[in-house]
Amino acid sequence: MILRYVPVYVLLLASVFGAQTAQSAGESDASGEELYHAYCSGCHGIEGDGFGVNSYDLDVAPRDHTDTDEMSARTDDDLIKAITEGGKAVNKSVLMPAWGENLDDDEIRLLVAHLRELCCTEAEQ
Ligand code: HEC
Repeated sequence: MILRYVPVYVLLLASVFGAQTAQSAGESDASGEELYHAYCSGCHGIEGDGFGVNSYDLDVAPRDHTDTDEMSARTDDDLIKAITEGGKAVNKSVLMPAWGENLDDDEIRLLVAHLRELCCTEAEQ
């Protein structure tokens, strides 16, 4: 009897792994806000104010992405570099992870656009 169900399990597993592969290849069509909530809010907070659930245990406070003065002092390239290569690459704390292996260029651009919405500003030229 049990054997009758095996092919169903195999099919289900295949579809789950298939979906994960598509996601990790950056084929998800999540918005910048959704990406931020999924990957960044744990430290930077849902509102981007730096008070995510993990922030209280970190020795260096996550950047407050709603801080207009600080954020407007960074170019988009600065932000892309910090996100892609991690805090260390921009002389910030290693507690800011590098996301280049997990997020593709389009997703990182969407995140930068979302950061600009959070801090309500353009970069200073
Ligand atoms: C494990 C906690 C953690 C996660 C998750 C995290 N960050 Fe950070 N992030 C930090 C910390 C801590 C800093 C502050 C580093 C410093 O000031 O030395 C930081 C700094 C930054 C900076 C640099 C700001 C500046 O001052 O130039 C950017 C940009 C940033 N994070 C974006 C993101 C984005 C986008 C995500 C999600 C893809 C993310 N972070 C996820 C902890 C985290």
